[in-house]
Amino acid sequence: PLPERYATRLPVPPVLRPARTDGTTDHYEITARPGLARLVPGHDTAVWGYDGLFPGPTIESRSGRRTVVTHRNELPRPTVVHLHGGHTPQASDGYPTDLIAPLGATAGHHAGGTNGMPGMGRATLRPERVYDYPMNQRAATLWYHDHTMGFTGPNVYRGLAGFHLVRDDEEEALGLPRGPRELPLMIADRSFDADGSFAYPAPGPHGTEPGVEGPYMNGVLGDVVLVNGAPWPVAPVDRARHRLRILNASNARRYRLELDPQPPGGGGLLQIGSDGGLLERPVAHDAVELAPAERFDVVVDFARYPAGSRVRLVNRLGSGGTAEVMRFDIGTARVRDDSRAPRGRLSEVAKLDPAKAVATRTFVFQKSEKNWTINGQEYRPGRSLAAPKLGKVEIWRFLTDFHHPVHLHLDPFQVISRDRAAPGRFDAGWKDTVDVLPAQGVEVAVRFTDYAGRFLLHCHNLEHEDMAMMAEFVTER
Ligand code: C2O
Ligand code: CU
Repeated sequence: PLPERYATRLPVPPVLRPARTDGTTDHYEITARPGLARLVPGHDTAVWGYDGLFPGPTIESRSGRRTVVTHRNELPRPTVVHLHGGHTPQASDGYPTDLIAPLGATAGHHAGGTNGMPGMGRATLRPERVYDYPMNQRAATLWYHDHTMGFTGPNVYRGLAGFHLVRDDEEEALGLPRGPRELPLMIADRSFDADGSFAYPAPGPHGTEPGVEGPYMNGVLGDVVLVNGAPWPVAPVDRARHRLRILNASNARRYRLELDPQPPGGGGLLQIGSDGGLLERPVAHDAVELAPAERFDVVVDFARYPAGSRVRLVNRLGSGGTAEVMRFDIGTARVRDDSRAPRGRLSEVAKLDPAKAVATRTFVFQKSEKNWTINGQEYRPGRSLAAPKLGKVEIWRFLTDFHHPVHLHLDPFQVISRDRAAPGRFDAGWKDTVDVLPAQGVEVAVRFTDYAGRFLLHCHNLEHEDMAMMAEFVTER
């Protein structure tokens, strides 16, 4: 029973209120627990959500203002929370073995449920974890999601993902569309069983074995596209500029998103930001390509369309249901638009100078017999592949014969070459995830700052990640 297209109104996740605030800090509390969602006609779908919601509630932080989130877990298995794109000290980064105990479990060391995965013996269980985010970073669209060793794919698939927006004065001074004209869009594909439950091809009987098997090794794809947890939703919009913060939260699917029809003259998706916040200048696109975990912040001016138009957001890389994403139904009323059109300079994106690089490192992403590897190694907690020095520019090269969205924790990077040529149309600005395509090498310049410790480099195809395509690096002073 597939959901109907364009039958649901686009939900917008609620913005979470702090449990308390003081002179320096906003404190939040979130509990991961089971919930129900109406996605398929006649059935309730069991989700695992932050506060029972999929997507979880949106956290909004001010750049430079500390945000502390206490996470608790009432799910039947351990969880880990990672703030994707966060410039976060190691202790709060959501290391895959820093587990939050499931309901009823006692704190201590943990080995169960992971079938003796190498390194899992070092895991620690705590009844709750306090994630402390200094938020010394510019305005950007971040997101938080599960990061449990071996189980990130199924946990995120069940719903453990939410937005975390960082705002700052510089961005606010631009007069971008806001309030109801600023829409976070979390795009994720899912498949359903006949009873309406999410169909995730976990091996073994009770989802106690990590990873996936056989045909799913390349990644789990769904046949229904959800936006903010609703299948092919409709957003009624004013005939005015809107800011769309697009996130590809799919486990493995890439999208090429396009407005259909295009506004007269094309260039309907005016990109103003990427993973790491504002670009230097806006870039007009007819279409944007997003690999898992990438964000595109775009402004769409619906006043370029005739009143009453219906404009679909389509996926040129999909077929059947996955070729469609959502629809905007443009109002007929004459409305005021006091946002400003982004043009000219938006922000400064200071270039990391590759000529100043103190090291060049190569990471090869490949399949092994049963798993996925980086430089021939399967991920094992405590085994590090690199020891970059804080504050120094390095060049990191990612090579592969398959498609892998490569993500770095701790700091964003800049793409300096793709396939031995200039960066591509979708590589602009500060990135934390880069779409590495088969047989194309991508080089990035990166400079880790502030926090010494162990951090992660991994493929953000979540099945690849769960099947060992992850590596640790240790930043040093
Ligand atoms: Cu969004 Cu290490 O992940
Ligand atoms: Cu991959």
